[in-house]
Amino acid sequence: MSTSKAKVLIDTNRTIAPISPLLFGGFAEHMGRCIYEGIYDPRSPQADERGFRKDVLEALRDQAYTVIRYPGGNFLSGYNWLDGVGPREQRPRRRELAWQSVETNQFGTNEFMEFCRSIHAEPMLGVNMGTGTIQSASDLVEYCNVPAGSPLSDLRASHGFREPHNVRYWCVGNEMDGPWQIGHLDAAAYGNKAREAAKLMKLQDPSIKTILCGSSSDQMRTYPEWDRTALEIAWEHMDYLSMHYYAGNAQDDTASYLASAVYFERYVDTLEGTLRYVKARQRSKHDVHLSWDEWQVWYKGDPMQGNWTEAPHLAEETYNLEDALVVAQWLNVFLRRSHVLKIACVAQIVNTISWLHTRPEGLLKHPSYYAFKLVSNLARGEALDIHVRAPQVETKQYGPVPALDVSASYDGETDQGAVFLVNRSQTETLLTDFLWQDGQTVRIDKAWQLAGSDPKAVNTWDAPEQVLAKTIPAPVVDANRATLSLPPLSFTVLTTRAA
Ligand code: AHR
Repeated sequence: MSTSKAKVLIDTNRTIAPISPLLFGGFAEHMGRCIYEGIYDPRSPQADERGFRKDVLEALRDQAYTVIRYPGGNFLSGYNWLDGVGPREQRPRRRELAWQSVETNQFGTNEFMEFCRSIHAEPMLGVNMGTGTIQSASDLVEYCNVPAGSPLSDLRASHGFREPHNVRYWCVGNEMDGPWQIGHLDAAAYGNKAREAAKLMKLQDPSIKTILCGSSSDQMRTYPEWDRTALEIAWEHMDYLSMHYYAGNAQDDTASYLASAVYFERYVDTLEGTLRYVKARQRSKHDVHLSWDEWQVWYKGDPMQGNWTEAPHLAEETYNLEDALVVAQWLNVFLRRSHVLKIACVAQIVNTISWLHTRPEGLLKHPSYYAFKLVSNLARGEALDIHVRAPQVETKQYGPVPALDVSASYDGETDQGAVFLVNRSQTETLLTDFLWQDGQTVRIDKAWQLAGSDPKAVNTWDAPEQVLAKTIPAPVVDANRATLSLPPLSFTVLTTRAA
């Protein structure tokens, strides 16, 4: 263990872009126990009168989710949305092929809308581009968004929802580049189908925003050619291009894993280049932004097939401190790339690939829950272009990288700022000098730290609060300078106000 010096230079005039509130979104799929036993569990002592788990709703509200993507995922590509609406007792039980589970359809589109309202999040719906048609995509927009008076909006009204749901964000399929996807297509076939679907959907409701499936990760053989091809075909009909990525430390190479932000940034930068290239080739005035609508740590090898059971335990990863530090860096990247990244959804919000796990009577929060909660509640206004000087950490995958990974926000309306700092070194404490360069007098309001000496430290049902964010004394600012010691393996958050 040793101590080195670092420096963070902040200027509220040096902005990157407004932070899109939709960067703090989540994803809820009919997979494992995300919907059933996660969000919806009428038999739980925690259930409210609608069958929603009160403790889960509260934790989701605490995380200030702004948008929730639903219903999949791979599930989407075999889903008939009509199965999930209308009287519950008439809804079919089906063999769900993507996750080899039994789908009871007791939770569907209308329950999802009520759920979103309960946590004050916008809904983001997917239309099936696997077994689904452009007609079924258009129909779902009619069902959700058209005022009563058409066959499908009247059907919605007959189901108890006279007012339209006004869903603004629509994913046109899911991971259609993946050979595992039900109804997988090549890029040109998908681009054509997605363009026609989006055309019909926008004829139903011109105010909607559509999201084109990009590659399911940058590891795909067809990446980034898939993205270019599909974009060129569908450009004018799409508002966002999706990105998906799941990080992990399968090689147990913690130094490289803790430099994941380098990887995330390269991925965004390549797709930003692709967007610019296609826009130029199209001679277009239209802009398409990025929607990172599946991101999370996922690599620990939990089962992924349900053996034809209801609500099987799938992909219920236990997250540790190093996973939380990767999540914190991911959020830093969202802020640093906020000029092009406008939507992001963590996959998923409860139980399945999630930092929140339920048992009938309780809820367990993994360390990354605390990292997300801090950033989603505090990053407001504009992202700042922070200047950082820090010692380097050697990594096998990326060579030398700075020990400090930083992002910051500043809201001119409230005069409040926030700084988010990951010390990715496993051994070095960073004695960090902060300097506010814009001439305004600031004070540090509050400070929090999520830290530990063991990167593998976890929370368990028996010891649920081993790794969490704790408040620490706020450093005093003198002549616009402050100093704070950032321990190895830590995530620190500072909020500032005008003094
Ligand atoms: O989130 C789990 C799965 O990961 C999704 O269903 C799919 O889109 C991705 O491959």
